[in-house]
Amino acid sequence: MSKATLLFVASEVFPFAKSGGLADVAHSLPRALSGEYEVNVVMPLYSFVDREKYNITTMDVALNVSLDGVNYKIELYGCESGGLDYLFIYNSLLCDREFLYGLPERGYNDNALRFGIFNHAVRELLTYKKYEIVHLNDWQSALVSLLIKEDKTIQTKSLFTIHNLAYQGVFDKEVLESIGISKEYFNVNGLEFYGKVNFMKAGIAYADIVTTVSQTYAKEILTPEFGCGLEGFLSYHSNKLNGIVNGIDSKHFSPSDDKALVKPYDSVRGKKLNKKAYLKEIGFKESKKPLFIFIGRFTWQKGLDLLIESLPEIASLQCNIAILGEGEARYHHTLKEIADVHNNIHLDFGYDESKSHRMYAASDFLLMPSVYEPCGLNQLIAMRYGSVPIVHGVGGLKDTVDKKRGIVFLHQSKSSFKKAIVQALKLYENSSRYKKIAQHNMRCDFSWDKSAKKYVKLYNKIREKI
Ligand code: GLC
Repeated sequence: MSKATLLFVASEVFPFAKSGGLADVAHSLPRALSGEYEVNVVMPLYSFVDREKYNITTMDVALNVSLDGVNYKIELYGCESGGLDYLFIYNSLLCDREFLYGLPERGYNDNALRFGIFNHAVRELLTYKKYEIVHLNDWQSALVSLLIKEDKTIQTKSLFTIHNLAYQGVFDKEVLESIGISKEYFNVNGLEFYGKVNFMKAGIAYADIVTTVSQTYAKEILTPEFGCGLEGFLSYHSNKLNGIVNGIDSKHFSPSDDKALVKPYDSVRGKKLNKKAYLKEIGFKESKKPLFIFIGRFTWQKGLDLLIESLPEIASLQCNIAILGEGEARYHHTLKEIADVHNNIHLDFGYDESKSHRMYAASDFLLMPSVYEPCGLNQLIAMRYGSVPIVHGVGGLKDTVDKKRGIVFLHQSKSSFKKAIVQALKLYENSSRYKKIAQHNMRCDFSWDKSAKKYVKLYNKIREKI
């Protein structure tokens, strides 16, 4: 029997384009699903995607998208990678940009139209090739669920995943016409949101199933504290809301055969050499002090305010700190100012996959003081590399880290964070206990196996309803 077909839609997919965790999930989840479903992945072919490197070629298919009397030329491209077929949608307005969505502080002014075009092109793709399921991710592909409900020729069922509720794709209501959405959807049960248009609402309202990336976040988003104004709307649709925790690609994040490492290892003892090499790489002296790392986007969500506020005090303790990331300019400035006056803080701007692997391998502790965290992947990667995470107990951090695996602090405050750091230093002094935890973390299963099965169950459930 041939497998059922699934189209996985995302605005970013690693390694082609990445701004955050969505790209990692869009890389690894489809691979984990491919045993059960025939999976295609589709994303925009941004101009910075390296067509040559990935052997991305035209498929000589023209998709027809015409919105508000304007014709948008769409070209379909494709490539094969890791046993999966990837499809790429190219339209000049959508794709010819320096960034995916704009600068971190502010998206491009025409993002509604750009992603409106993308969603319509995906709808066209669903008429060109029949898929049983379409899996949509975040606001950038949420409209597809509405477009296929409207189109009676399409039988595809949809599942919509919220990776981060704070980004909803909210635009002036005037964009509706230009993106070919009828005004009849502009009401509280549809896309209307405080007088504006909200793309995320389309996914929640019209998809057959809605998921988010951890069980705790699925509960949190029903409350005013985490609901970003959609708590009422989500509560109304809560009978189709599910929490499924993310996994990581255990082949890509595998300390025992990771090419980025100086010396791959399969037990916590093997970290020593990697720590030595990394400290040398950043110009630090070899040290018995614990190494704390922070890797991630410099945004409010990731707890940058708390990190910055606490850094000078942490740096005054017996430890080294290494930070890698990029994001809002205000955080770059302050971090640099602090790093300049503390010789045990190393700061690297940018995003460097291979360096991040070396940091995980070298680190003793990972700092993750996020204000909120739908799932979080870095704590999973850190544990896989035998590091001990120090996390704020929210969302996916709460679901994946407990006392046996790391240090969880309950209040996102300077005093709680500091207490957790002091606790970490004490734990580190008790070398046998520290090693036991780190070793236990290396042995935990953070692969997609269990969670992919949960998605398959949901896909099958909505297919049965056809
Ligand atoms: C977003 C969330 C993060 C999650 C990722 C993948 O980046 O902020 O918590 O792990 O999406 O789902």
